[in-house]
Amino acid sequence: MKKIGILTGGGDCPGLNPVIRAVVRKGHNEGYEVIGIKNGWKGLVENETTKLDMRAVSGILPRGGTILGTSRTNPFKTEGSVDKVKANFKTLELDALIAVGGEDTLGVASKLIKEGIKNIVGVPKTIDNDLGCTDYTFGFDTAINIATECIDRLHTTAESHHRIIVAEVMGRHAGWIATEAGIAGGADVILIPEVPIDLDEVCAALKKRHQRGKTFSIVVVAEGAQFKDKGLVTQEARLDQFGHVRLGGIGEILGVEIEKRTGYETRVSVLGHIQRGGTPTAFDRVLGTRFGVKAVELVMKEKFGRMVALSGNKIVDVALSEAVSSLKTVDMDLYNIAKEFFG
Ligand code: F6P
Repeated sequence: MKKIGILTGGGDCPGLNPVIRAVVRKGHNEGYEVIGIKNGWKGLVENETTKLDMRAVSGILPRGGTILGTSRTNPFKTEGSVDKVKANFKTLELDALIAVGGEDTLGVASKLIKEGIKNIVGVPKTIDNDLGCTDYTFGFDTAINIATECIDRLHTTAESHHRIIVAEVMGRHAGWIATEAGIAGGADVILIPEVPIDLDEVCAALKKRHQRGKTFSIVVVAEGAQFKDKGLVTQEARLDQFGHVRLGGIGEILGVEIEKRTGYETRVSVLGHIQRGGTPTAFDRVLGTRFGVKAVELVMKEKFGRMVALSGNKIVDVALSEAVSSLKTVDMDLYNIAKEFFG
């Protein structure tokens, strides 16, 4: 019986469990044994696995997070870890590995292929939607729906108190969550990493709005947005194993500046990990399921070094190395639509 391993790495997101379920169900239908590797690449370094039979994936479709656990372990950062990955791949007698992750996890997959572990297929996940070669990653739809609901809630309290509320959302160095949740939630200003913040412009837009009789406003800011001539706002200087800083805090700085410059009372709300938790939307359940089934099909056809992707409404496969080669940032046509509603 041929054996497929599956791992989930990087930040968790809603939709991972539907992928795992789909891989197990399709794998079993096609006569494969499927094993789960625990906690991302860490599990392959430490040989920590779990059996994934039909019973193990029963009932997990609506569950957020990942039943396999995750980590931000980068085997290329610790001496001897890549050798351990290679050895464990053999010990586990894996015929193929399905790696589910974002740019970091799939970046490792792409490097491992070059190191000789060729039988890998990638599945793109992240709430940030910043992975190349796919129109959407699963997890993003859930995140923007949660963020939109939060913005709706902030609207009612902002209106009652005649305040500005700054909502800080995730997304790392791409402003997809801010842009789409901002449009959906009717934000009055949306600030993203792709466009440096001009405080004069922000305050002018808010004043213009107040001049036409509005006594409240919602500003959505992406955690990775930056003021002109200033760097990223971070929570700690330490980098993770993939060289990422921990972002967060721009909302607070922005709120203070807005209040100082406009005189309007301002509050700040950081949405944080709420955007990443909980049950996946129907869209993410369907996308995760389609990705999982397609990933097994790629294994069956021995199309390794590929990543499943969404192109329009079709599930396709693309070169894994190309998908991780550059970050997918916000389409300026979309941002320009958002801008029509500023102020
Ligand atoms: O990549 C997903 C993400 O949620 C980013 O939007 C955010 O910057 C980061 O992960 C937060 O990471 P952690 O869960 O380690 O705090």
